[in-house]
Amino acid sequence: MVCLGNICRSPLAEGILASKVDPEDVFVDSAGTAAYHVGELPDSRSIEVAKKYGIDLSYQRARKFTVKDFAKFDRIYAMDEHNYRNILSLARNKQEAKKVTMILNEIHPQQNLSVPDPYYGSDDGFENIYQMLDEACERIVEKLQS
Ligand code: 4NP
Repeated sequence: MVCLGNICRSPLAEGILASKVDPEDVFVDSAGTAAYHVGELPDSRSIEVAKKYGIDLSYQRARKFTVKDFAKFDRIYAMDEHNYRNILSLARNKQEAKKVTMILNEIHPQQNLSVPDPYYGSDDGFENIYQMLDEACERIVEKLQS
């Protein structure tokens, strides 16, 4: 799960997907395309909205996406078009590029919709992105199982 800062959207996406899979089967992680917040906890508003749904994000620390992630992961979900383009610019071949998807295309195929960046917005924004990510992660799990 990849966003810009790895403190708002992708930590939530990581926590939500991790809560829906068996950790023995699926390894879920998140990263940011920028390094501004490396080493930090998720934003307190992401921690709070996740907690409301029984999901703990407090073990997470922000890190920057690296080219090694292409080898480590089968699927790479970008939260928005900006992240998507940044990740793709690091891909060294077609196999790596094929791993990258905009996460909302899982529920709105081919529409290239972005998960809105909630950083400068209100607390409502975090509930809103929680709901979007929950739906997208549910679909990801359905696809993994089929
Ligand atoms: P995220 O949100 O990409 O969902 O983690 C942001 C976090 C920090 C900043 C921007 C977006 N920032 O500009 O520091």
